[in-house]
Amino acid sequence: MAEDLLINATTKEGKYKELIPQVKALISHEADLIANLGNICAALKFGMNFFWVGFYFVKNDELVLGPFQGPVACTRIKKGKGVCGTSWQKNEVIIVPDVEKFEGHIACSSLSKSEIVLPIYNSKNEFIGVLDVDSEALATFDEVDEKFLNEVLGLIKF
Ligand code: SME
Repeated sequence: MAEDLLINATTKEGKYKELIPQVKALISHEADLIANLGNICAALKFGMNFFWVGFYFVKNDELVLGPFQGPVACTRIKKGKGVCGTSWQKNEVIIVPDVEKFEGHIACSSLSKSEIVLPIYNSKNEFIGVLDVDSEALATFDEVDEKFLNEVLGLIKF
């Protein structure tokens, strides 16, 4: 299997549309969740040129860092804290155009300027964690990212 990603599109929507079938192919023959989550982080980070892409999962009432790509990050986030903990508490996708304007934002890197956090649910529709994506530019994320990142999450058997 070829592991290289090929993205030719110049628009964000076009890039996601090229990337998603490749992500699907990448994970379709592998049953191990951690292996697939690792590759999904790499595919999103390098395919979409994001600054940081990673998963946090609920463990003992905290979000704990899972597979990610990018600079080192904080390992534990409490419910209601930061963008991730707020997404958990409100049970909703949170798009932050400017992290400095989000009260309580947890800065893992001063280079991160905007962010999107999407809740993850298991097959029983229980909240189990979040996908967090950071950008070095302001206002990177919108409903296009929400739609396609949710599509990526829909490919994964949690
Ligand atoms: N900024 C996040 C913390 C995780 S890092 O961005 C990797 C937050 O406020 O929850």
